Amino acid sequence: MRILIFGAPGVGKGTQAKILSTKLHVPHISTGDLLRRAVSKKTPFGLKAKELIDNGNLVPDDLMGNIISEELNDPKTREGFILDGFPRTLPQVGILEDIFKKVGIDSYSVIILEVKDDVLVQRLSLRRMCSACGNIINLNYLKDDSKCPSCGSRNTFVKRKDDDEFVVRNRLKIFHDQTEPVVKYYREHSRVITIDGMLPVEDVTQKIMNHLP
Ligand code: AP5
Ligand code: MG
Repeated sequence: MRILIFGAPGVGKGTQAKILSTKLHVPHISTGDLLRRAVSKKTPFGLKAKELIDNGNLVPDDLMGNIISEELNDPKTREGFILDGFPRTLPQVGILEDIFKKVGIDSYSVIILEVKDDVLVQRLSLRRMCSACGNIINLNYLKDDSKCPSCGSRNTFVKRKDDDEFVVRNRLKIFHDQTEPVVKYYREHSRVITIDGMLPVEDVTQKIMNHLP
């Protein structure tokens, strides 16, 4: 199963991709997670990307293309993958199509999650990640806001630097300017599954599963 998952910042791409990855036994490739890992390891590339990510700006297309090419040439993705966060610009669509041609991929499912901007700003102000296991949570839905419901660790929640409201608004603007044309492209060229991302997490997953081939 090969899936491309799209939607604005905070729409639930990572949440759904992680669940689907477990259900479908295919790796979750998140460009945001790959970049944040490079930043935390202070690799030369991570050092270059840090300021762009912290301010909610896009990393240049050619650098992103190298990262994705490496991932899609890795044998772990041979049986499928869930691609979250790429492509985000029209040039990145071209890069992905070239990679797909080279590795012999001609079919995939496209999922688009939709949520209104104001809800997204609110959601991202409440998002935390467990630094012990990587679980993503929304503070609103926790009974005990110091304990990770996934791994049980305490006081391990961290807030992403790019989740401050000013940066979130910039990320949303970039999504509308640069990624919506990508979404439009896939609507015109592929069969697209559009899901209301305002539904509870489990319902979003169920709807996606119902639509997959
Ligand atoms: P990236 O990490 O991909 O960020 P993003 O696309 O802005 O999306 P987010 O990860 O913020 O949101 P999400 O949709 O995954 O939502 P989540 O599931 O966490 O990219 C970060 C940066 O890296 C970019 O800004 C850019 O700088 C760079 N970058 C990455 N890819 C790039 C590329 N291709 N080209 C150039 N630069 C690139 O959920 C959010 C919150 O909502 C959580 O708290 C969650 O618990 C909650 N939630 C989820 N679903 C629901 C629901 N159904 N109901 C209620 N709450 C929900
Ligand atoms: Mg994400």
